[in-house]
Amino acid sequence: MQNSSASRGFFFIGTDTGVGKTVIAGALAKALTAAGRRVGVMKPFESGCRRDGGRLIPADALFLKKMAGATDDLSLICPYALARPLAPGVAAQAENIVIDIETVTTAFARIASRYDLVLVEGAGGLMVPVSEQLLTADLIRLLDLPVIIIARTTLGTINHTLLTVKQAQSEGLEVRGIILNKTSPEPDEAEETNPAVIEKFSRVPLLGVVPHIPAKDRQNPELLSSLVRSHIDLSLLQ
Ligand SMILES: Nc1ncnc2c1ncn2[C@@H]1O[C@H](COP(=O)(O)OP(=O)(O)OP(=O)(O)O)[C@@H](O)[C@H]1O
Ligand SMILES: [Mg+2]
Repeated sequence: MQNSSASRGFFFIGTDTGVGKTVIAGALAKALTAAGRRVGVMKPFESGCRRDGGRLIPADALFLKKMAGATDDLSLICPYALARPLAPGVAAQAENIVIDIETVTTAFARIASRYDLVLVEGAGGLMVPVSEQLLTADLIRLLDLPVIIIARTTLGTINHTLLTVKQAQSEGLEVRGIILNKTSPEPDEAEETNPAVIEKFSRVPLLGVVPHIPAKDRQNPELLSSLVRSHIDLSLLQ
């Protein structure tokens, strides 16, 4: 059983796809590295990968690797790069790929042995299939990692976030914290009250609210790192 004060890493899940898991996990990898931690990364399943020659390119895994400055092989960081833009378990079936979950747990163990902590990005949310039998929640349990939930800031996020917290806890997972991320530039009145409401009803620490980032800055490692340092409480991510 892991010690909750000194985790081997964190598993980032979204309330949905496209909520900013890659941007935030990457920025945190950079910020924690700058703070002196040795940080490894994984995106065990990445679907919707573009093809370059004969190879599938997992863009999220590449971004995380760059932000952490990790030297591990991309095939270790992302053991399953899949072409179809489907949930990994569904994409694998469509592509006649049999998922061996031990490939992922073994890759994690190898990476974890080289770093102080490993930031692992899930595909979409908690109840996304990663094989014919297993959901993301099952994978998190196998890796024995606490969860960080990334959610939108806008109207509708209370419901999605609380559902994710409750389901994670009922799966026996530790939810270490919630990060709200403003992916849309549009103002939304619910954003003023959502953080406090989510923290009150979830009883999980709200680690921070990340503001909207202009397009020109979203690939800028230094800027992303300083943004999370000023908007996210890193003390619970040690
Ligand atoms: N705070 C933000 N401000 C502006 N744009 C953002 C912000 N966070 C993320 N984005 C953008 O929103 C899109 C989705 O973000 P990201 O790829 O990090 O989501 P994700 O949860 O990792 O998605 P997936 O489920 O596909 O892995 C990207 O184009 C990203 O640049
Ligand atoms: Mg992503």
